[in-house]
Amino acid sequence: MSYVNMNGILIKARNNKVAVGAFNIVNYLTAKAVVEVAEELDQPLILQTSVKTVKAFGIDEMIGFLKPIVDNAKVDVALHLDHSTDVEFTKACIDGGWSSVMYDGSQLPLKENIKNTQEIVAYARPRNVSVEGELGAIVGVEDDIFVKEGDSAHANPNDCRVFLNETDVDAFAPAIGTAHGVYKGEIKLDYDLFEEINGFAKCPLVLHGGTGLSDAMFHRLIALGAAKVNISTAIKIAYCQGMRSFMEINPDKNDPLKLDAYTKEAVKKVVEKHIRFFSRID
Ligand code: 13P
Repeated sequence: MSYVNMNGILIKARNNKVAVGAFNIVNYLTAKAVVEVAEELDQPLILQTSVKTVKAFGIDEMIGFLKPIVDNAKVDVALHLDHSTDVEFTKACIDGGWSSVMYDGSQLPLKENIKNTQEIVAYARPRNVSVEGELGAIVGVEDDIFVKEGDSAHANPNDCRVFLNETDVDAFAPAIGTAHGVYKGEIKLDYDLFEEINGFAKCPLVLHGGTGLSDAMFHRLIALGAAKVNISTAIKIAYCQGMRSFMEINPDKNDPLKLDAYTKEAVKKVVEKHIRFFSRID
């Protein structure tokens, strides 16, 4: 198995009406946890890094510890940059070794989003790197991108047609009412819009804001064509609560390796639940 871009694994998932889990990892421990689960379940995987996380380590240092993990994985793994709003930083990650990137110009006017996304696709394609684009506004906070509730805007289908035709992205994230972070209040999703866009999109669709959606919501959206599902907040919660719980159970233990092992198991549990569900494994 190998280090891949997203194309093959997403097209296969779309054809089989399943989804590939795309998990936002924050360090070596979370990356190992996610890859180990994918190996144990024999499923392809997308390891995602937010811009903030990459900047915290630096591109070279981050690829330095991630590359051996993905190269040695027993399943197909793509390493994807999530929500990059900066054209130059996106190109730097392509040069640095990421196999896939998301250029997020969704807060820009359509024309500008198209222009920048085209520039990224032109840079990425000859380098065998896949590109995800976005239209509409996914509310909540992801990384340093903060979209207020009132600014929420579902993707406009006509704009989506134009964007997809003009950019030829490999994966597409239309906003349909999901939100980053922990959901507050009732979740209202526009399934009809998602189905309509999937009907004309040549590329697989991406569902953002996966944390907190119910099994029934995932099930319906995957059946309607969501081939990549993003999970970030659930990983962060499992990581922090895992650490906290170890310290509560062992207040006098100062054993970092045991703390790490315990925390990794907590992260793995959450990842396993999602991969099983997305790949329809009982
Ligand atoms: P959550 O934080 O809601 O899981 O969303 C993840 C996401 O969409 C990352 O792009």
